Amino acid sequence: MRLYIDSANLEQIAYLNDYFPIAGVTTNPSIIVKEKKPYMELLKEIRGIIGEEKELFVQLIGDTAEEMMAEAQYINRAIAGKVVVKIPVTTEGIKAIKLISAYKIPVLATTIYTSMQALTASMAGADYVAPYVNRIDNLTGNGIKVVQEISELFSAYNCKTKILAASFKNVQQVHDVCLAGAHSVTVSAELMGKLIDFPSTNADVAAFKKQWQGYYGMDKQSLN
Ligand code: E4P
Repeated sequence: MRLYIDSANLEQIAYLNDYFPIAGVTTNPSIIVKEKKPYMELLKEIRGIIGEEKELFVQLIGDTAEEMMAEAQYINRAIAGKVVVKIPVTTEGIKAIKLISAYKIPVLATTIYTSMQALTASMAGADYVAPYVNRIDNLTGNGIKVVQEISELFSAYNCKTKILAASFKNVQQVHDVCLAGAHSVTVSAELMGKLIDFPSTNADVAAFKKQWQGYYGMDKQSLN
């Protein structure tokens, strides 16, 4: 399981990269414009924080496959380290996935609502597919079930493509896609903290410390 930060906020990324087992950062146009900065400057700053080994996902905005191919080459040249381009699964997007993956630039097929979109993107050469779990749920669909179907199809056809599940509103959805066969998830900064937050854990830790200091003295803050 690999965990990604779904944000372009530099403070959030620096904090989460320091504390959590992060594999990289995913962005999309909405996430980038929220930061109100020139996008290339922002992407390079994110790269500076996470280093060159962790993946940085950048979504293409071109309308045609040829435009997306030119964008992918530009982004790949301009940003150092491991860059993955995100391509929406439209008809032009599928053509772009074929072109760009043949050019050996890593590709994530995004805005996925159905398992057939994921399977087609995989056949076109996508390294990752991103089913939009919460957005599927919002349409009276079942995001977890779509992830499970993709996982079954990828197993049945020996697809190398990884499932990077995206669009979450709560920890339960993240938990359920992990069980449904997702290889990785991308979550917001708010949700990342909630993955491990549980009141009993904090209460237990406080009680251990109190007992320890009750016996060894209040000045005993650590074992060394
Ligand atoms: C991933 O990068 C997706 O774009 C993102 O998770 C979508 O999330 P949202 O549905 O909360 O906007």
